[in-house]
Amino acid sequence: MPKVNMVELLKKAKEEKYAVPLINIDTLEWLHAVMDTAQRLQSPIIIGTAPFQVERLGGVHTVVGMIDGLVKDKGYTIPYVIHLDHGSSFEWCKKAIDAGFTSVMIDASSLPLEENIAVTKEVVYYAHAHNISVEAEIGHVGGDEANGSKEVLYADLNECVRMVKETGVDCLTPALGSVHGDYKGEPKLGFDEMQAISEATNVPLVLHGGSGIPDYQIRMCIERGTAKINVATENRRAFHNRLRDILAKDALLIDPLKTTWVAKEAIEEIVESKILLFGSNNKA
Ligand code: 13P
Repeated sequence: MPKVNMVELLKKAKEEKYAVPLINIDTLEWLHAVMDTAQRLQSPIIIGTAPFQVERLGGVHTVVGMIDGLVKDKGYTIPYVIHLDHGSSFEWCKKAIDAGFTSVMIDASSLPLEENIAVTKEVVYYAHAHNISVEAEIGHVGGDEANGSKEVLYADLNECVRMVKETGVDCLTPALGSVHGDYKGEPKLGFDEMQAISEATNVPLVLHGGSGIPDYQIRMCIERGTAKINVATENRRAFHNRLRDILAKDALLIDPLKTTWVAKEAIEEIVESKILLFGSNNKA
C-alpha cells in the first residue's frame, strides 16, 4: 500500500541522511505536478494542506478523495502521506484523521508550553490509536503560512526535550530562524541548536519555510537530523510567473488546458529540484 504515515519514512530518511519533501498543494494542478514528479523520480512524498487550504479545496473529504482518487486513477506506486499542515486544534486533527489523512501537525506553538504539550498529548493519543503520525512545533516559525503573521521565536532545547518525552510525538519542528514566505537577506538558521535538539530528542526534525534557503544550508540541515522539509512559496511564485507569461503571449486564451495546466510545469521543475537537493530520489 503506497499510502503511509510518516514514521517509517522519516526514520529511514534520518538514518540515510536525506529529507522527504512536504509540498503544500493549492489546486488539483498542483497535486498532479507533485505526484507525477515524485513518481518519475521514485521519491516518497508528503502532500501538505493547512486548514486554510483544506477549506478552500472543499474540506477534509475532498482532500483525501482527490489524492487517493488520483493515486488510483494514475496507478502511482510511491509511498505518499496525506498530512494536515499546521493543524490549529485537536478538533482539526481529529477531523482530518477521521477523513483519511495519515499524518497531522498540531501547531499549538503560540500557546504557553504547558498548553502546547497538553493539546499535543491529546492529539498523539488519538492519532496513535489510529496509526497516524504526529508533528509538533516548539518556538515560532516566522512569516504568515497558516496562523497569521508570526515573529520568529527560537526553540528552546529543554522545551523540545519535554515536548518529545511527555507527548510521544513522532517528529518535531524546532523553530530555528526559518520563515514561511520570503526571507529578508540570507536565512540565519540555528545549526548548533538543531544538532543539539536532534541528539537530545532523537526524533526526526522538520524544517518549515523551505523556500529560499540556499542549497548549502539545506544540506547542513539534513546533516543535523532534519528529515522533512516543507515547501510552498517557491511553487506559488513559479506557477504564477509561468501563468503570467502564458497569458501575456496570448490574451485571448480561455482553455485551462492551455493556461493553468501548462503553468503547472513550473511546479514540476521546482519539485524536481527539491527532490534532487533533498536526496529523496530513488528512496521510494
Ligand atoms: P514556504 O512557503 O516558505 O516554502 O514554507 C512552507 C511551509 O513551511 C509550510 O508549512
